[in-house]
Amino acid sequence: MVVRDEDIAAAANLLKQATYVCALTGAGVSAESGVPTFRGGGGLWEGERLEDVATPQGFRADPKRVWRFYNARRRQLRAVRPNAGHYALAEIERLVPRFTLITQNVDGLHQLAGSRNVIEIHGSIRTVRCVTCGGERDAADEDLPELPMCERCGGLLRPAVVWFHEMLPQDAMAAADEAIEACDVMLVAGTSGVVQPAASFAIWASRHGAGVIDVNPDPSAFTPVHTVGLAGPSGEVLPAIVEAMKA
Ligand code: OAD
Repeated sequence: MVVRDEDIAAAANLLKQATYVCALTGAGVSAESGVPTFRGGGGLWEGERLEDVATPQGFRADPKRVWRFYNARRRQLRAVRPNAGHYALAEIERLVPRFTLITQNVDGLHQLAGSRNVIEIHGSIRTVRCVTCGGERDAADEDLPELPMCERCGGLLRPAVVWFHEMLPQDAMAAADEAIEACDVMLVAGTSGVVQPAASFAIWASRHGAGVIDVNPDPSAFTPVHTVGLAGPSGEVLPAIVEAMKA
């Protein structure tokens, strides 16, 4: 890890002085759990066209294909565990007065690690939603059939994730907006920042005076606005920040 101790200390100081910390996470925080990122080599869409498996049009055209893709991801996710970065974020939540975690991830690993105030702006792969009646339920531990149907109305079920060309869930977005407005530190980890609206969250927070910490081994869209940049894996950097906060 090429992260300097003084940068870890600077990040820890920012967090210790904060009254409201808002974290923003992406696929990179789950990379060390073995979940592929979207844009890295061997990324998630490899082997499948995004239009076929992650758009409403793709689902209408061939729901079985979409469910094959998501059932494979659901099975894969059942085998993965949170990593040290997820646990460190849960610990930071306990160390500061107010904390909200906005995640673009659909894997549920933050909650498994103990994070409590989590906003899933891209939905959750653990949940299924009926396309007819809109009913949702947790199906994380179930082996779903090729074409799962709603027990209530017989409609087709879909994964409760946000696909391309779809609106983000309004309640999640409203809660995220509130957190970004109110926070005095934004802790970004493991996101390239190329997908809106998350990409603008840190810029927006920094405009109203919040400090921005960016944890990412590579430069990201947040690099130009960060107060502290920590160029290392979140599974190492975030626990180091927690240790410095406690020291
Ligand atoms: P990306 O794949 O775009 O970016 C992952 C980021 O994680 C990159 O910037 C990597 O450098 C970084 N990274 C890799 N390993 C890391 C590690 N160990 N620790 C910290 N950072 C690491 O994933 P997202 O930014 O999450 O949307 O992508 C955003 C959205 O694009 C996703 O939610 C998804 C996708 O299209 C939807 O599906 C709607």
